[in-house]
Amino acid sequence: MTDADLFKRGMRRLASGVSIVTTIDETTPQGFVATSVTSVCAAPSPSLLVCVNREVSSHGAIHRSGTFCVNLLSETDAELARLFSSSVHRERRFAQCEWRALTTGAPALSVALASFDCKVQTAFDVESHTVFLGKVVAVELSHDAIQPLLYVDGRFDALRSFAPSAALT
Ligand SMILES: Cc1cc2nc3c(=O)[nH]c(=O)nc-3n(C[C@H](O)[C@H](O)[C@H](O)COP(=O)(O)O)c2cc1C
Repeated sequence: MTDADLFKRGMRRLASGVSIVTTIDETTPQGFVATSVTSVCAAPSPSLLVCVNREVSSHGAIHRSGTFCVNLLSETDAELARLFSSSVHRERRFAQCEWRALTTGAPALSVALASFDCKVQTAFDVESHTVFLGKVVAVELSHDAIQPLLYVDGRFDALRSFAPSAALT
């Protein structure tokens, strides 16, 4: 077994929240599924990062527009996640969902638990991927119920038990 195989087997055990990262290519919305979204810092200026394979069709548009929006999915959105990680053409992906622009012009999806509208602050390449560090310029929270979509061991899943934070206080 190669190191890469062992790495992938290990990473399959990392449960991740699932996002659709969107951007705008002139007037055409683009987006793809990502689990590599990470919060970087909250203050004084909130920022997050996402790692984007250079083969992903939105990659060039993120570079050109200097914008992207991270949309966190809920457990009912596994089909949407499949659509945005499939070979279905970008315009047909957006025909399946409502969206609106927040500040940068990148699409915020109506179904998202939260949408983080970002301007690219820094980008650097690591092998096959570009790490985009985004300065968050707007946040929208759309749902009160927080039931996130997860990806673990190669499949979409939901938390089996989840105590709303109010129950912990
Ligand atoms: C659960 C899951 C997580 C993914 N995470 C990422 C990611 O973080 N970065 C990335 O570049 N591609 C990721 N992908 C792959 C892209 O979503 C997929 O290649 C997509 O089809 C690319 O968009 P395109 O078809 O428009 O090129 C992920 C796919 C899945 C199913």
